[in-house]
Amino acid sequence: MKTEQTDVLLQDSPEVEAKDIVVEIANLTKSFGALEVLRDFSLTLYKGENLVVLGKSGSGKSVLIKCIVGLLRADAGIIKVFDRDVTALTAREMDEVRQNIGFLFQSGALYDSMTVKQNLEFPLRRIREHLKQKEIDAKIKEVLENVGLLDALNKMPAQLSGGMRKRISLARTIVVDPKIILYDEPTTGLDPVTSDEISLLINDVQKKYKASSIIITHDIECARMTANRLIMLQDGKSYKEGTLAQFEKSTDSTIKLFFK
Ligand SMILES: Nc1ncnc2c1ncn2[C@@H]1O[C@H](COP(=O)(O)OP(=O)(O)OP(=O)(O)O)[C@@H](O)[C@H]1O
Ligand SMILES: [Mg+2]
Repeated sequence: MKTEQTDVLLQDSPEVEAKDIVVEIANLTKSFGALEVLRDFSLTLYKGENLVVLGKSGSGKSVLIKCIVGLLRADAGIIKVFDRDVTALTAREMDEVRQNIGFLFQSGALYDSMTVKQNLEFPLRRIREHLKQKEIDAKIKEVLENVGLLDALNKMPAQLSGGMRKRISLARTIVVDPKIILYDEPTTGLDPVTSDEISLLINDVQKKYKASSIIITHDIECARMTANRLIMLQDGKSYKEGTLAQFEKSTDSTIKLFFK
């Protein structure tokens, strides 16, 4: 099964190095009191791939990526990031792993009291301590150019539109060159045109930064534009897994609800 899928992947996308696994989740279980959100959830992220996790609102998508970065503790199961099981790491070890993971929050989460430049400088200074001011300035310029917003350098977040804030959040995520990027609903709340622009940027980031990404979404257009492979999260489980073509053709009633 896996071999078949990876063969398809290699044909579909030259970026994906299907033999290298960067994230492996097995039998992940997470409850809040009596509410069981994830139950035996499993997933494999290959190097260079855009893996879309689809699921309806409240299905546990945000809980899933919070477990990957250690913002939430899993109740059971294994979450391996670059071969290290994050469920067994100390806070300090987790910090090391996190330095290679970029997280685009569902809410964007820019610092409102800082300019765009300061928002981008902040993670760079914290995570890439060795960089000189000149290198920091060059890096900030590069990522702002990549998201098409170089002229926003000295603006405050309040002066930006929703779509611009998403772009700046994306710039802040990629400024530290993360090897893995987790996108939580990157297009939510945006108009269709701006959503498409963000989806295209996600593909640019895949190519330019050779990042491996998990894109959590219920936006089917975003999934169509970005996915090398998809997983449907349903009832806490990895309900179905496949390529876009396989999902589009699927006769499964749950998948058809998304792919009308
Ligand atoms: N810290 C928490 N404490 C208690 N319950 C929580 C917590 N975080 C999430 N939940 C519950 O877990 C379930 C899944 O939430 P989650 O935010 O992962 O959904 P989602 O799939 O990301 O939804 P959306 O598409 O709306 O963002 C929800 O029922 C939510 O109420
Ligand atoms: Mg969510």
